[in-house]
Amino acid sequence: MDAFVIEGGRPVSGRFEVHGSKNAALPMLAAALLTDGPLELSDVPKLQDIQNMLRLLAELGVEIDEPDDGPGLRAGGRTIRTRVTDASQSHARYDIVRTMRAGVCVLGPMLARRGEARISMPGGCAIGPRPIDLHLKGLAALGASVSLSNGDVIAKAPAGGLRGATVFLGGPFGSTVLGTANIMSAATLARGRTVIESAACEPEIVDLGRLLISMGARISGLGTPRIVVDGVAELGGATRRIMPDRIEAGTYAMAAAMTGGELTIANWPVDALLGPFEMLRAAGLEVELGEHEPLDTPGGDPIRTTAFVRRTERLRPIELTTQPFPGFPTDLQAQALAMLTLADGNSIITEKIFPERFLHVAELMRMGARIIRHGPTAVVSGVPKLVGAPVMASDLRASAGLVLAGLAARGQTVVRRVYHLDRGYQRMDEYLTGLGAKIERVKEEALEELAVPV
Ligand code: EPZ
Repeated sequence: MDAFVIEGGRPVSGRFEVHGSKNAALPMLAAALLTDGPLELSDVPKLQDIQNMLRLLAELGVEIDEPDDGPGLRAGGRTIRTRVTDASQSHARYDIVRTMRAGVCVLGPMLARRGEARISMPGGCAIGPRPIDLHLKGLAALGASVSLSNGDVIAKAPAGGLRGATVFLGGPFGSTVLGTANIMSAATLARGRTVIESAACEPEIVDLGRLLISMGARISGLGTPRIVVDGVAELGGATRRIMPDRIEAGTYAMAAAMTGGELTIANWPVDALLGPFEMLRAAGLEVELGEHEPLDTPGGDPIRTTAFVRRTERLRPIELTTQPFPGFPTDLQAQALAMLTLADGNSIITEKIFPERFLHVAELMRMGARIIRHGPTAVVSGVPKLVGAPVMASDLRASAGLVLAGLAARGQTVVRRVYHLDRGYQRMDEYLTGLGAKIERVKEEALEELAVPV
């Protein structure tokens, strides 16, 4: 296992280009199963979760043309081509799905196109229970029979295929992002009209919807809580550039703000980050946007620009609640909490999507942060300085929060188990080094030899 050794206190400054979005790419790759035609997706990030999805698709009979992206750091340009060559397999096995919860994305496409899908039931994960009851409820509403056998979910379409229906996807914590992806994808090939009520409005769902439309699907209402899908007999091939990763963009912006750096961030997803950065402005983060298309441009493609990010004064405390889009994303909560440990006063952070998602709190406290957690709320009393310490990464975004804290802290921080981070951030250590940070990737076994305190 790898660890990062970070010498903190150096500003993160320079120019960074945001990669394509992991969470948009995963369901878009799964959409390959909906057609015999070729799909060509560009800006596909090279991340562990994506590589696992490609491995899963290959097992399900999808031929994948994946160029070698060669040495050096390049954001855009990785184009992946897929085409189904064998549709006989419909079982997504446990040993792949357990490595990546997003394996559940193949459920809807496989059921719609192959009439049957068997997928190992995803378990919980470090951020709390992760049920898929809403996915299954939605597929059942489209006529599928759903059963559980030996830890696998088995969904079967009725004779004559799935049929359109009204599906309500609201759950105790709002809608479901991947559930919406699954039902919308399955409904493209169902007979008749499907109305998804309480659909996820996340930009990644809009991006997926636009891919499906270019494959021939009939979808309206993307980006709203009511999505209407009129089923078609078949879908064809398509080409699409994946939207920029709003979470990666936000994480690097906060790295600059925490370390007192100045960062120019290219491929910044303007419309996907308007709300969250309005909130972070109140904390003292300055974001200047470059020229971009007006927000009401028809067509719904992501609006990209270059953002210039910095902070000129000490960070100010804020109240922040995670919410479904366009609210503050849960996937930026750990990073924002890490940033607010350095604010001048008390911040209140409430997690409304995954109420247990606070594994970073105890680790940040080892670095001198002052945090009190009550259920889904954390009260963060800002301190003037964090101090380096050995800490343990526990999930993807918690790891990102710890890396940010390490970059800003005085002294040395060792973040163990950065494989969590590698699931969602492409070569973060190398990019940060290029931006002035002192951060080294080492094997955990080497830590003792290096006499690094653990
Ligand atoms: C997606 O997960 C993202 N993953 C997550 O990003 C993100 O945190 C999450 O959406 C919320 O924005 C991908 O896109 C691959 P949900 P998803 O279903 O779709 C409850 C990251 O760090 N729920 O929208 O699995 C659920 O427990 C990852 O990149 C049910 O109750 O999340 C949660 O409280 C982590 N029943 C809430 O809904 C269900 O059937 C939202 O979950 C499904 C979900």
